[in-house]
Amino acid sequence: MNPTGQYPETRMRRLRAAPWSRRLVAESRLGPQDLVYPMFVIDGEGTSEDVPSMPGVQRHTIDRLVDAARQAADLGIPMVAIFPKIDQSLKNAEGSEAVNPDNLVCRATAALKDADLGMGVMCDLALDPFTDHGHDGLLKGGVILNDETIEVLCAQAVVQAKAGCDVIAPSDMMDGRIGAVRAALDGAGFQDVILAAYTAKYASAFYGPFRDAVGSGTVLAGDKKTYQMDPANGDEALREVALDLAEGADMVLVKPGMPYLDIVHRVKAAFGAPTLAYQVSGEYSMILAAVERGWMERDRAILESLLGFKRAGADAILTYFALEAARLLQDASTP
Ligand code: PBG
Repeated sequence: MNPTGQYPETRMRRLRAAPWSRRLVAESRLGPQDLVYPMFVIDGEGTSEDVPSMPGVQRHTIDRLVDAARQAADLGIPMVAIFPKIDQSLKNAEGSEAVNPDNLVCRATAALKDADLGMGVMCDLALDPFTDHGHDGLLKGGVILNDETIEVLCAQAVVQAKAGCDVIAPSDMMDGRIGAVRAALDGAGFQDVILAAYTAKYASAFYGPFRDAVGSGTVLAGDKKTYQMDPANGDEALREVALDLAEGADMVLVKPGMPYLDIVHRVKAAFGAPTLAYQVSGEYSMILAAVERGWMERDRAILESLLGFKRAGADAILTYFALEAARLLQDASTP
């Protein structure tokens, strides 16, 4: 007799019964190769300082940053992303430190490449760590100037590329910046530098702890709603992706992550392009806050949150849990 495809012949629990059978039929898998490790860098030497709003996350001086990156490389993590916290005295309205070829990001990048860790270095392209108003672009009369900002971003991209940056990630959300930055890089001889566009970057409350980490939160005048996307919109994300890919983006990024898994899924399904998702600072701190209260199990919460990105279609995930998750995955795979 043919099975009916229904209970009682069909029992979905059969394959769930043992660890080996669950492993055998798992549809999504998470490995260290799926993780990108975002790190914060500060000036000085031999020092690390805690980021109060992100328990377990530290800002490192360049020497320590290289050590931390080495740990990531040893665990099989393919790329780090670096974010600077620069001294307040170096910030101004134009964010001019961003285009200083010897700025903190460039020195950190050069040191990481010198260390020859066999991993990629990704740099954020935006002015917010460098402006005294905390915005990602140039500000005039309360308005963020699009085209003028792009010119600065092009110069910033070139200094980052000169420092050895492998992947430049424009996170500023100005219109037309991908094409302009691509042309600037190509014009300067950096046609092989990869562009990872923060394509669908939402104006989100979940960036709060990050702004604390890079010191742009206390200074931020207003919000970023005139350039970052409205959390209400999904179709608009697809239009952004189409534009960025047409302008030459090699990868696209969705950010934040967990509240936007539908966007990750739609972007991957519609374009099939390399799609990164960013589990941002607020998502990290939210999970840890619950863990610290004993409301969730740490390891399981971390791995489940990351697996969700893979299931949604992300090719890789930027996460502050990268080191810890890679260690957990290593333990799980050594019997
Ligand atoms: C800004 C930038 C932000 C983040 C990465 N790049 C914050 C912002 O847009 O205000 C946030 C990352 C995080 O919250 O972990 N260029």
